Amino acid sequence: YDYDVLVVGSANADLVVGVERRPAAGETVLGSDLVVHPGGKGANQSVAAARLGARTALLARVGDDTHGRLLLDSQRRSGVDTTGVLVGGAPTGVALITVDPSGDNSIVVSPGANGRLTPQDVRAARGLLHGSRVVSAQLEIPLESVVEVVRNLPDGTRFVLNPSPPRPLPAELLAACDPLVVNEHEARVIVGGELDDSPEEWAAALLALGPRSVVVTLGAQGALVATGDGTVRIPSVRVAAVDTTGAGDAFTAALAWRLGAGASLADAAAYAVRVGAAAVTRVGAQESYPTEEELASLAGS
Ligand code: RIB
Ligand code: NA
Repeated sequence: YDYDVLVVGSANADLVVGVERRPAAGETVLGSDLVVHPGGKGANQSVAAARLGARTALLARVGDDTHGRLLLDSQRRSGVDTTGVLVGGAPTGVALITVDPSGDNSIVVSPGANGRLTPQDVRAARGLLHGSRVVSAQLEIPLESVVEVVRNLPDGTRFVLNPSPPRPLPAELLAACDPLVVNEHEARVIVGGELDDSPEEWAAALLALGPRSVVVTLGAQGALVATGDGTVRIPSVRVAAVDTTGAGDAFTAALAWRLGAGASLADAAAYAVRVGAAAVTRVGAQESYPTEEELASLAGS
């Protein structure tokens, strides 16, 4: 394989403002100075994997503009192969993000060029798909393009999906996921019915929809992995949260990279929990992701 991880997904410029609290409808609040970070769930995942040492490529679309150049630059500085990053067709995607004092964020995404990453673009990138051990996707690009990824997935290449932002998923896509990686909110949307408060129950309900395995991220409570053989809880690593933006993307990328290297689902998730924890201790998404050496020095690991 040429790549340990191929990420198919979005690239956004994250426009971040700190606020004391979020405005209610019709209300205006004053925030901090604007900071622009490279982000987007796909671009975040590829940077996270590359910083950890994975040979990584990104299939995405950005605009022919300054935000697009910011994103390409961030990928290249992290060592990501960007031959699959298409340029043009619409402005680069933008995420409008507010971060509150507890480190929690709210995000509005304008997909822009991400919305123009078509099934045809995916088919044209078949060479990248065939050269990759693991393919990891999210849902900030058209759903039909993600479905096209699994239709073109070579035998032996593992598929990881974080269905974010969540929506009900076609059976064809669910069946390819190994694992489906969700948080509580995503689990509830994808299952679609009433769910009680037990992550074990969410995992069982998700498994019944057809994925080969499920990983539920539980924030400060760690994670849970589930296959037909049962479920395992993965404990958290205690850290002081500064900015949770993109921590889930770092988790999923780390998981994908370890799975590709042959780790068990539980071992890969334990590694990914540490990577996600490291990411919340620093500001931003991509800039907050640890290298292998930084991860080794994380307290509690
Ligand atoms: O998951 C975090 C990401 O979601 C941000 O970087 C932002 O771009 C949004 O896509
Ligand atoms: Na962060």
